Amino acid sequence: MCGIVGYIGKKEALPVLLAGLKRLEYRGYDSAGVAVIGEKVQLAKSPGRIFKLEKVLEGKNFSGNVGIAHTRWATHGKPTKANAHPHIGCNDDFLIAHNGIIENYLELKSELLGKGHKFRSQTDSEVFAHLLEEEFKHYHNFEASFKSAISKIRGAYGIIAISKKDKEKILIAKKSSPIVIGVGKNEHIIASDLSAVIGYTKDVIHLSDDEIAVCESDGVRISNLKNEAVGKKARKVEYSLEEAEKGNFETFMKKEIFESPEVIKNAIRGRLLEEEGTAKFGGLEEAGERLKNVKRVMIVACGTSYYAGLLAKYWFSDLTHLHTDVEIASEFKTGNIDIESSDLVIAISQSGETADTLGAVREAKKRGALTMGIVNVVGSAISQETDIGIYNHAGPEISVASTKAFISQATVLALLTIFFARQKNMSLKEGKDLMREISGLYAKVGQVLGQQKTIQEIAEKYAKYKNFIFLGRKYNFPIALEGALKLKEVSYIHAEGYAGGELKHGPLAMIDKNFPVFCISTKGSVYDKMLSNMEEIKSRGGKVICVATAGDKKLENIADDVVYVPRSSEMLSPILAVVVTQLFAYFLARVLKRDIDKPRNLAKSVTVE
Ligand code: M6R
Repeated sequence: MCGIVGYIGKKEALPVLLAGLKRLEYRGYDSAGVAVIGEKVQLAKSPGRIFKLEKVLEGKNFSGNVGIAHTRWATHGKPTKANAHPHIGCNDDFLIAHNGIIENYLELKSELLGKGHKFRSQTDSEVFAHLLEEEFKHYHNFEASFKSAISKIRGAYGIIAISKKDKEKILIAKKSSPIVIGVGKNEHIIASDLSAVIGYTKDVIHLSDDEIAVCESDGVRISNLKNEAVGKKARKVEYSLEEAEKGNFETFMKKEIFESPEVIKNAIRGRLLEEEGTAKFGGLEEAGERLKNVKRVMIVACGTSYYAGLLAKYWFSDLTHLHTDVEIASEFKTGNIDIESSDLVIAISQSGETADTLGAVREAKKRGALTMGIVNVVGSAISQETDIGIYNHAGPEISVASTKAFISQATVLALLTIFFARQKNMSLKEGKDLMREISGLYAKVGQVLGQQKTIQEIAEKYAKYKNFIFLGRKYNFPIALEGALKLKEVSYIHAEGYAGGELKHGPLAMIDKNFPVFCISTKGSVYDKMLSNMEEIKSRGGKVICVATAGDKKLENIADDVVYVPRSSEMLSPILAVVVTQLFAYFLARVLKRDIDKPRNLAKSVTVE
């Protein structure tokens, strides 16, 4: 939630800050603001998108080599100009931008009001600017005041501050909200994620929780909350600016869907042991015997990552005979879920920063379980806090609607299923067959993408409908849920995912000629039952769109529209079917002229609970 950018160096700060904000806009886009310190403090804010902020800046002279900027996703207070960051206190001595939630802000605010401070916004964040002012009265030093103010706040924060009392520094603190520092030649670019940094430098420091950084143009000092120095060096990051850019695609969502074949190759690279019919994961090795002795698996995640987890639950239960449960991360934290030290808790997260999933990891660790992260963003909080982990290597996912991350998560989870199953009772032959199929999966996904024209035509035909059901059974039930989520998210059309068997227990009542059902009816053990579902819908006058296995002409007699996917094992068919649902949602949203990459009310990474 929210994107922060900071710059200190020899360049004019404003263009760097605006370019960074544009890259982070997917994190939040309710309002934006920028502050630069040159001869004087210059501050501009605007409700709405960054282009609106640019309009506000037209004709203004924002000269200076140090500055901060912010793009907001509102948590406390409406998306107004007053609530936009950066915030100042009673005067403009200190400017701050914050991502997260200051949980004790009401308490702090009332103390500060008592001391005569006047507030301008409804945000929790503004208290930090006033707190800095207050601390400065005692310490007369920006750094000491910042550290003392940090020690007084509770909650989640990525905070960045500049001051006209000390123009040569940017101060940063992190707890449960991502912050990276790009280390350039005599310059530093600070941001909520790498996409705002990699255009300038590939040398990056990932700040950890409870660390405070002091950035000057020629160096960074990092300390912990006890004021002890933390020796941290910059690491080279792998991905390029092009990977984070749209290229020839109209939207990031489409670009990312079309990256799926590459994403599968990256997920399996170096991990296939085809002759042994299994997989290897460098990041799991240190768990050694403990992993082998796991009795039960609990998967925790949110949204699309949760549906990838649900798919893995089916795979694990069927093929590894490991007792497996999957839980929505926010529920895991609140429920009395029984976790023991012989359990493995797997957290799946594209961003690696989702607050609920991170909270579930912490809870699992507290209870002594072995924790594993399946994470895309290298160096993110979940990747740092889990005991062992697997990276997706899917490259940056910018579109708020997650697509390629799901493909990558499912691919990694398929490998992990085989890894566990081969330690139990999966035969060498079965392992080898599956490994062979996984290594050719990218080409089959490529064939599904080749059907984009057909899927586009179908989506355009159905764009007038107001409700959809997505139906699947067994491995394709999670795909039905994910297909419905994707459609809701990018088109704002109401859609629900159901297990085929549930249709007659209620949802069938809604079916009539205005209520299409998207059925995932690929060949496999539940195929006949899906056929019965389709007949049930047709006999109530409902429209049926279906995903079928290549060559299955029979379905053309039942369904109104059919999209074919290549033949595959039942286990891997969901990875092909999901691509059809992603493209369907994409093209439908396009007809409706939705803001596909930035759906209303959402943010890419949900770092608040
Ligand atoms: O970064 P994460 O995978 O932890 O994110 C979890 C969800 O917030 C995310 O999948 C969300 O549901 C997407 N917007 C779905 O497209």
